[in-house]
Amino acid sequence: MQTELTYSPFAEIETELLAVLAADSQTAKGAEAKPAPVLLAADEVVKKAAEAVLRSGEYKAAANETLLLHSPAGLKARRLLIVGLGKLAKVKTQGVRNAVGAAVRYAKPRGIRELALILPEIGPATPPREVGRAVAEGAIVGDFDADTYKSDRKDMSVERFRLVAAETADQEPLEAAFGEGVIVGESQNLTRSLVNEPGNKLTPTVLGQRAAEMAQAVGLGWDVYSTEKLHELKMGAFWAVSQGSAEPPALIVLRYEPEGVTDGPVLGLVGKGITFDTGGISIKPSDNMEKMKYDMAGGAAMIGAMRAIALLKPKVRVIAVICAAENMPDGKAYKPGDVQTAMSGKTIEIVNTDAEGRLVLADGISYAKQLGATHLIDAATLTGAIGVALGLVNAGAFSNDDETFSRFEEALKVSGEKFWRMPLGDEYADQIKSDIGDIKNTGGRHGGACTAAEFLHVFAEDTPWIHLDIAGLAWIDETRPYIAKGPSGVAVRSIVEWVRSY
Ligand code: BES
Ligand code: MN
Ligand code: ZN
Repeated sequence: MQTELTYSPFAEIETELLAVLAADSQTAKGAEAKPAPVLLAADEVVKKAAEAVLRSGEYKAAANETLLLHSPAGLKARRLLIVGLGKLAKVKTQGVRNAVGAAVRYAKPRGIRELALILPEIGPATPPREVGRAVAEGAIVGDFDADTYKSDRKDMSVERFRLVAAETADQEPLEAAFGEGVIVGESQNLTRSLVNEPGNKLTPTVLGQRAAEMAQAVGLGWDVYSTEKLHELKMGAFWAVSQGSAEPPALIVLRYEPEGVTDGPVLGLVGKGITFDTGGISIKPSDNMEKMKYDMAGGAAMIGAMRAIALLKPKVRVIAVICAAENMPDGKAYKPGDVQTAMSGKTIEIVNTDAEGRLVLADGISYAKQLGATHLIDAATLTGAIGVALGLVNAGAFSNDDETFSRFEEALKVSGEKFWRMPLGDEYADQIKSDIGDIKNTGGRHGGACTAAEFLHVFAEDTPWIHLDIAGLAWIDETRPYIAKGPSGVAVRSIVEWVRSY
């Protein structure tokens, strides 16, 4: 999708489809006559074109509700699409992001290849800068569909998307914001395209190649190691998971080293990259097992985030460590009861080979620290339990450091993503004490997401650290008006923003 930011009177825009946002302006409940929805365009001609239908009461401007007018009076555009934001007083940037995605997804199946959107003017709570960014992200994320393997696939992508602002707009900040949004949106889609790949196409080795290609394209440093390096680093936990697979593991390292930055923090991004999780010897039931191709979504989020970081150029050093392996049952596979020694020297009793993510991350975290990371963030489709705790609404976030976490909370305001802070604690740590080694890799049925986080905490130790459990949100089962079903690319935007806070 080609994206542009232009300035012109709105009535003059020549386009197949001109999208404009609208909101429900009713303030008090039970007010006598319900006021007509308001169009968020400071332009009398556009308002006039939509006036009759807005007055009719047929259209409520509910969130992502669309209404199409052909040959709108007084406009050069062939169609006018009104997209709702819900209640005006409650509009947030995330609502704009979604509404723009809904506009793009309206155009796609109708064969409309080009559209323009009027920059909405909402109010002080949503400054043009934030909105400009959300518009670009919403359009690019909305354009993605996971249908690449259909042999009769008709690429329904929108080829050209224009954001149109009034000529009086403050151009510089808007341009910067729009440009950032393009970078972040495309990076999120890179993550989604990786997550979408099936396990036979995207092995650990291929994930390493894709990461290296990205790194080369944007000028990041990179190394992709395999079995030998795992042995050299004594990564007994990571190796245990990969030893049952015919596919060798990949230890992927990406480095962002901005010129002139030689001190200050080094941010370590650690991602779970299980390209397929059968559960291993503790094999999973076959229902829904095919979904376990997305068990590398945390690793893919780090690859997408590193792309955005390379292009946005924040003044902070960042290293990403992605631990990619396939979790398979086999004659050589690790077994329940095995004891493995992690890179840190801690011994781990394996209770369940399906709790493999924490094992690869344990060594990934130790390695990121060895490479100099002073602050850590990891992302993983770690537990089914996080979906039980938080539903498919919020992803889980854990942290051992309030200052580090408060930066993440600020980042969420920009990214619009939903994460909920979950507790760590000694009581959870007690659940993973082992009789035979230092710790065991599962802590029983209760608080599964918390005991998994405590497992990682053993390796992060006192280094300020955030753990993101994205198991519930990395895959979307039903298409929404603004995003296709399939891989969501969750966490990319928030991680990028967290990095930029340093
Ligand atoms: N990859 C799974 C977690 C998962 C579940 C991701 C559902 C996405 C959707 C992880 O490796 C796993 O199997 N976790 C186990 C842990 C248990 C054995 C302690 C789980 O959640 O059941
Ligand atoms: Mn598993
Ligand atoms: Zn897994």
